[in-house]
Amino acid sequence: LLTESVLRSRLGADPAGARHRQPDAHKGSYGHVLLAGGSMAMTGACLLAGRAALRGGCGLATWALPEGTLPYVLGAVPELMLAPVGQGGDRHWSAPAAADVLRLLQTRDVLAAGPGLGRFAGDTDWLRALWEGADKPLVLDADALNILAAADGLHAWPRRDAPTILTPHPGEMARLAGMPTAEVQRDRLGLARRFAAEHGVTLVLKGARTVVAAADGRVFVNATGNPGMATGGTGDVLTGLIASLLAQGHDDVAAACLGVYLHGAAGDKAAAARGSAASLLAGDLIDAL
Ligand code: APR
Ligand code: MG
Repeated sequence: LLTESVLRSRLGADPAGARHRQPDAHKGSYGHVLLAGGSMAMTGACLLAGRAALRGGCGLATWALPEGTLPYVLGAVPELMLAPVGQGGDRHWSAPAAADVLRLLQTRDVLAAGPGLGRFAGDTDWLRALWEGADKPLVLDADALNILAAADGLHAWPRRDAPTILTPHPGEMARLAGMPTAEVQRDRLGLARRFAAEHGVTLVLKGARTVVAAADGRVFVNATGNPGMATGGTGDVLTGLIASLLAQGHDDVAAACLGVYLHGAAGDKAAAARGSAASLLAGDLIDAL
């Protein structure tokens, strides 16, 4: 069970320590997150992920987005840097060109791909290029996971050298594992543990009582959070937060565990402040962080 003491003693991840800054810190001290996503129809996802990353404590965050999307997001989150690059796919469903994302990643610390991505022509090649080319920690969420599932990537693609974190909700997990969602939910802990070990990834199986499974067989269950978090965009907030913790130097398992713990705690704090879990918005979690 993920408690503060387990986070501290087993994972070296102090929830309070995540807040501390060295007196002589500068923004380069706490890492730089790169986000890749941004189809025009789902621009909110990377705006939420980017803002969550910054609230999570990283020094800088950049969103690599297809240039056609730029006019629709300019100024929405002033702290988030925008890197408009070439685009693949069609007008509404497109992605920042993989070669440009990899070039940007050379001077960043972690890549998170998937929020607001959509599916598009050539998406398998796009994801494979990032999978093989990214020599930094990689967080995959949302449609990046659906692309991976459709391509049978985990079975067929080479193991990555750098850490990989997958953050599926039960439906995305069902596609990745090739089974109905009900079967995923029947044995969340067992499935997550087997899947992470078999594929050499850190798996975050989301939903009430999120499970984090490490490739080495360790498995953790999170108890923070509430059903008010069943609202669009909260998963994007988690993706940004985990990427932020990776950028600050936590290893993949610690970043995933601390991320889900703080994300749920932020949801609990926000629900209490609002007086109603039902009214919670994803952005409230970011403010509560
Ligand atoms: N109790 C605790 N936590 C919960 C609960 C609950 N009952 N319900 C949801 N959550 C948490 C999950 O654990 C997860 O962290 O809220 C988050 C929901 O994440 P997602 O299911 O990914 O939702 P969302 O942010 O809307 O996803 C955005 O990505 O998954 C795709 O199809 C989705 O395109 C959409 C996008
Ligand atoms: Mg999601």
